[in-house]
Amino acid sequence: MKEYGHPRHDSRPPLHMDDPARLLNHSARRINRLAEMAGAHRYLEVGVQAGATFHAVKIPRRVGVDPKFAFDTAQYAGADTQFHAMTSDAYFSQLSFDERFDIVFIDGLHTFEQALRDFHNAVVHGHADSIWIIDDTVPIDAYSAHRNQKEAVAVRRRERRQESAAWHGDVYKLVFALHDFFPAFDYCTICTGGNPQTLAWLEKNPRKPLFNDLERICRLDYFEFTRHMEILNPVSEAEGLARMERFFHSRGSALDLRR
Ligand SMILES: C[S@@+](CC[C@H](N)C(=O)[O-])C[C@H]1O[C@@H](n2cnc3c(N)ncnc32)[C@H](O)[C@@H]1O
Repeated sequence: MKEYGHPRHDSRPPLHMDDPARLLNHSARRINRLAEMAGAHRYLEVGVQAGATFHAVKIPRRVGVDPKFAFDTAQYAGADTQFHAMTSDAYFSQLSFDERFDIVFIDGLHTFEQALRDFHNAVVHGHADSIWIIDDTVPIDAYSAHRNQKEAVAVRRRERRQESAAWHGDVYKLVFALHDFFPAFDYCTICTGGNPQTLAWLEKNPRKPLFNDLERICRLDYFEFTRHMEILNPVSEAEGLARMERFFHSRGSALDLRR
């Protein structure tokens, strides 16, 4: 496995006002690049918070879901920009089967069960050329991989004397589930240029299950995760985006015909 290291939330360089490229966060930068390649028209973000990514995404129709938006959504809502102040489960439960998204960014509650359910729901509302982006699939330490955010931060502070809010939860288990139980998907994990994120798309790439046991995946811990990091299919941002470019290229104009 290539060594890409673990970018840390708390050690990113400060933004420089004189460098516009730096002003775009890593998620929006990647999403906008993917949107260009895919000719994406419809975007869904699960977990929006203050909108650092959402507001910077350049896709004509955007939908954001969050039970607790950290900004006044009324100021930004419009015909093509919708906000749903509810959990992702509530949102998907009332969504018509006709709704389709080209790009979905899954960044809501960072537990395995919720991320798995968000992924499944988002897949139902995708299509053959959609791309699903799963945030926070690479925890930076045993604390950040803990399922309870408050406890993770408090114990790190107490045990390690480190003031860091870094928390990824156990979303990493979703990648192991993808690997073993979603053979219709291919995926890779961008591990450079900002917080790691896993990209998934519909493409058959047969692989042998690692655990073949959902219970075992549920019980994974950070240490075992680090022993099996090749399951992430880690790539640099440039490699991941180049791979998606090849994917969209191979699908060619079929994309427009299917819309
Ligand atoms: C890490 S933040 C999202 C950051 C945002 N995507 C960005 O890139 O700036 C996670 C968000 O998920 C939201 N969240 C928590 N539980 C959720 C749920 N069940 N459904 C949807 N969003 C949820 C939280 O309120 C929080 O705002």
